[in-house]
Amino acid sequence: MRAGLDKEPADVARMFDAVAARYDLTNDVMTGGLVRRWRRVVEDAVAARPGEVVLDIAAGTGTSGLAFVEAGAHVVSADFSLGMIREGAERYSELDFVAADATRLPLADASVDVVTMSYGLRNVRDYEEPSRSSAA
Ligand SMILES: C[S@@+](CC[C@H](N)C(=O)[O-])C[C@H]1O[C@@H](n2cnc3c(N)ncnc32)[C@H](O)[C@@H]1O
Repeated sequence: MRAGLDKEPADVARMFDAVAARYDLTNDVMTGGLVRRWRRVVEDAVAARPGEVVLDIAAGTGTSGLAFVEAGAHVVSADFSLGMIREGAERYSELDFVAADATRLPLADASVDVVTMSYGLRNVRDYEEPSRSSAA
């Protein structure tokens, strides 16, 4: 099964729940290791600084946020697959995992310094809708 815009969000979350334990290894193998190079490009583009708060949306197991922690930032790793964030929380205590839908983030406006998303946008339906978050 592939995640895509034709899939119901609940089905996408279930699909990632099911692959959580082997997601990162599969990603490495399927990209022939290129994923590590792409992550470095994102790391350079974000250029996180010590003390900044980085919100990593659709963070999965959190691997996409590790470089920002190494740069001294505080990383909030948000994802709606509980399986992915449980797997990540077991591995990376340095990340702050939050169960959240990208279109309804439970964060106040302007509460983070940087927002990033890796390999996530193609799975998010209605990403052009304004946020319906009740946080102000
Ligand atoms: C391909 S993984 C990418 C994970 C991580 N960012 C990385 O680079 O390895 C896509 C992730 O997006 C999450 N996702 C998809 N749609 C989402 C949504 N609407 N809100 C939150 N997470 C979502 C999935 O649960 C999955 O963990």
